[in-house]
Amino acid sequence: MISKVLIIGACGQIGSELTYKLRLENGVENVIASDINESNFELVNSGPFEIIDAKNYNQIKRCVEKHNIDTIYLMAALLSAKAEQHPKMAWSLNMSSLFNVLDLAKEKIINKVFWPSSIGVFGSTTPKSSTPQHTIMEPTTVYGITKQVGERWCEYYNKNYDVDVRSVRYPGIISWKTLPGGGTTDYAIEIYHKAITDKKYECYIAEDTELPMMFMDDAVNATINIMNADYASLKIRSSYNLAAISFTPKQIAESIKKHIPEFEITYNPDFRQHIAATWPKSIDDSKARQDWNWCHDYNLEDITKEMLKQLSNMYSVS
Ligand code: SER
Repeated sequence: MISKVLIIGACGQIGSELTYKLRLENGVENVIASDINESNFELVNSGPFEIIDAKNYNQIKRCVEKHNIDTIYLMAALLSAKAEQHPKMAWSLNMSSLFNVLDLAKEKIINKVFWPSSIGVFGSTTPKSSTPQHTIMEPTTVYGITKQVGERWCEYYNKNYDVDVRSVRYPGIISWKTLPGGGTTDYAIEIYHKAITDKKYECYIAEDTELPMMFMDDAVNATINIMNADYASLKIRSSYNLAAISFTPKQIAESIKKHIPEFEITYNPDFRQHIAATWPKSIDDSKARQDWNWCHDYNLEDITKEMLKQLSNMYSVS
């Protein structure tokens, strides 16, 4: 029997594409999308949709019972840059939503949970290259603190209450369908938009700051694959390191120039540079590759080609 799925935060960058993919695979009526408002018109009109405030346990529970939900993907969160501007709000949303969903699983009202962690769990004392799965984690951002604490709680609920919670530490995710909001790694999306519209981009990250990144299709596949993996194969119940490629602003600009030779990049680092400077350059994700056969498809050239193609179409029709 196909399980019924609820996606919380479905209007967002990853939530929306995860919803589309799961609906293709499981059937539209088996995937309920939800968010705090109807901010993504296309998504809201693509199938069943409910308004849910992720901080409200009863709202989630009512929706779960109404639709007979078995599995929740909790994609609502304040990202790193926005969280620095609203620390209490980030703590409240990122933590209370996680407890709400973990508690539904503890009470056996649902069976399975996906919750995303992030490279934001790492800090300036973490080894920067090929960052290991188990290592020093002293995050300095509110976002990173919520993700690190969240990881500890996921593992705790798994060990003590037998909750089937699964998680990956997303790197920066690059996509064209839905704009991200409030992340540090979002420059790697803005740059493609500006390359098409203005042929130039002022980057808020310094030219040689290398960060781990991934194309959306890979991120969605990783998410669905870890959820489909056998229970016993998943040895890590905090969160798996997950990686594809790493690059600097200078390198992404070079790859754009191969297609748009007149493209120019300038640099004006702001507070987000301080966040980026504490994060790893590259990630060792061998545990994910071993335990549930993770592998990525897109390298930087593939991403640049796809982003420029899709965004050119988007801007020429609008
Ligand atoms: N992409 C996220 C951010 O920049 C990191 O998980 O906040």
